[in-house]
Amino acid sequence: MTNYQLGVIGAGNMAEALLRGALAAKVLDARFVLVSDVSPARRDLFTREFKVAAVDDNAAAAACPRLLLAVKPQIMPAVLETVARVINAETLVISIAAGIRTAQIAAQLAGRGRIVRVMPNTPLMAGMGATALAGGAGATPEDLDWTGRLFASCGIAVVVSEREMDAVTAVSGSGPAYFFYLLEAMTAAGQAEGLDEATALQLAIQTCRGAGELLFRTGQKPQAARAKVTSPNGTTQAAIEALDKAGVKDALVAAIRRAAERSRELGS
Ligand SMILES: NC(=O)c1ccc[n+]([C@@H]2O[C@H](COP(=O)([O-])OP(=O)(O)OC[C@H]3O[C@@H](n4cnc5c(N)ncnc54)[C@H](OP(=O)(O)O)[C@@H]3O)[C@@H](O)[C@H]2O)c1
Repeated sequence: MTNYQLGVIGAGNMAEALLRGALAAKVLDARFVLVSDVSPARRDLFTREFKVAAVDDNAAAAACPRLLLAVKPQIMPAVLETVARVINAETLVISIAAGIRTAQIAAQLAGRGRIVRVMPNTPLMAGMGATALAGGAGATPEDLDWTGRLFASCGIAVVVSEREMDAVTAVSGSGPAYFFYLLEAMTAAGQAEGLDEATALQLAIQTCRGAGELLFRTGQKPQAARAKVTSPNGTTQAAIEALDKAGVKDALVAAIRRAAERSRELGS
């Protein structure tokens, strides 16, 4: 019997970000977390920064009542082979591996364990992740609630059905890249209009950050917020008309649809 409440396999970037948020929010207690990773440098970092126990023993982590799988998808089959030998029917298995369905995990675990699949995104590393979670075989409402609280310590967490995960992947998983793309364009345009690159980038980043925060805090719909900053015949109206004429909204919808299709292709 282990005293640890949560085992983590894979002490990478996502696990680091998650532990930082969850320990600070006291959703986790470092004394009851056991991390396993192949890399001595990562184990040292977790011991030093988070005061958690860190080992090179996936079976020890898998013996905990809750288990977070945070390795790359291509490593998952080998990790699940070890996990399958150790877990019991009551183990909560949380996977953040992109594109791996709960049915695949359940099959590898020979039906043991209760499975929750999670799709976070990279802003989790800044404590502002958008995470979706879906219950698989045997997952209870309490499992979803606990997992949701864990990820909400680094942003927000919403429960979806697993068939919605491709849409989630397309909207919030790949979403940060759409923002980066927009920022590239805003910066280039600022430069073309005479700003230096650093100033244009600084203004563009803070504008996107502030616009998101404004909607988050006020609960306004984007259309309503846009109407507020668009005076008749003003600069914003001129810009939006140019965007509409170029079909930018349709292009974005098509791009996100394509991302969802690609997610389905990769998962099938
Ligand atoms: N980054 C994202 O935006 C994002 C979003 C959604 C989901 N995810 C998912 O999150 C998961 C983790 O991503 P990440 O960016 O945190 O990856 P990462 O930084 O590469 O972390 C994975 C860690 O696992 C270690 N590892 C490799 N093989 C292992 C084994 N057999 N047993 C134990 N540990 C092992 C790696 O060590 P080595 O480096 O020495 O191999 C590394 O420290 C992935 O499945 C990814 O699909 C990521």
